[in-house]
Amino acid sequence: MNTPDEIKALSDEILRLKKEKDALILAHYYQRLEIQQVADIFGDSFELAKKAKAAENRLIVFCGVSFMAESAKILNPTKKVVIPRADAGCRMANMVTPEDVLKLRAEYPDAAVVCYVNSSAATKAVSDICCTSSNAIKVVRSLPNRRIIFVPDKNLGAYVAKQVPEKEFILHSGFCPTHRNITADEVDRARSEHPGALFAVHPECEEEVLAKADFIGSTSQIIDYCVRTDAPEFIIGTEVGVVDRLAFYHPEKKYHLLSPWLVCSDMKKTELSDVLRALETESSEVVMSDGEIEAARLPLERMVAIK
Ligand code: 13P
Ligand code: SF4
Repeated sequence: MNTPDEIKALSDEILRLKKEKDALILAHYYQRLEIQQVADIFGDSFELAKKAKAAENRLIVFCGVSFMAESAKILNPTKKVVIPRADAGCRMANMVTPEDVLKLRAEYPDAAVVCYVNSSAATKAVSDICCTSSNAIKVVRSLPNRRIIFVPDKNLGAYVAKQVPEKEFILHSGFCPTHRNITADEVDRARSEHPGALFAVHPECEEEVLAKADFIGSTSQIIDYCVRTDAPEFIIGTEVGVVDRLAFYHPEKKYHLLSPWLVCSDMKKTELSDVLRALETESSEVVMSDGEIEAARLPLERMVAIK
């Protein structure tokens, strides 16, 4: 844990070096607040992917988890992309392999494969189109196929299936260990402790938790909802970084984190000193072969092209 003085010194040096090195710092909303504060761009995974694709800087420093930095490289391959903590992965992304997808494809040859971006480049490469939590419904509706194989998140997949009942879904069994921890009882308890507060939740949660929500959306959509909705108090069912951001930038309202377990240990690995080191040493670089990039590019580009 850094002291306020250390945070200031590290941040100043990061801001100086960022200019000198022509670097763009992107940060996901689950990153520590002090990292979001030195970033040029912050957002949900879809917004960050789009901004990474459009980046003109020589160097992209991606503060998030590895699938996000990998997607940035795939969408903007001539840039040098570095991730401050190479060991920051996504536990959900590791739950599905390309072999799993190929097996499902063989079983359901008429189905389209929709792959949540929380997955490896190799898994994306054997899928038809990617999606994030902010665009999954649109992505599925854009496809002519009646059958959809959805990987890896069973909760996001089930949520989308409910919104698009005209299609048949084959769901993979992956899940986010952070969001899966939340229970419907915790929602009831939080509602009785904070009567009148609205409950906003991420679709990676279990169905019985989503059933109790006033709003379901991506990290950005949850933030927008809290800022725009004319209510003074919210219960937040996603990672603590979203609550930290809301409390800092919109202190006129109250936000209650639904459960103390809503911490993504991988997202929290990155510290300011890691960002500084990433800028100084330009590492760890995301290295992918042309073939790997080319194979995963189309599913991501198809997603970005959807209006
Ligand atoms: P968002 O796309 O909503 O930012 O979600 C990313 C993620 O990893 C959620 O756990
Ligand atoms: Fe992956 Fe869950 Fe962490 Fe998001 S919160 S990065 S889905 S482990």
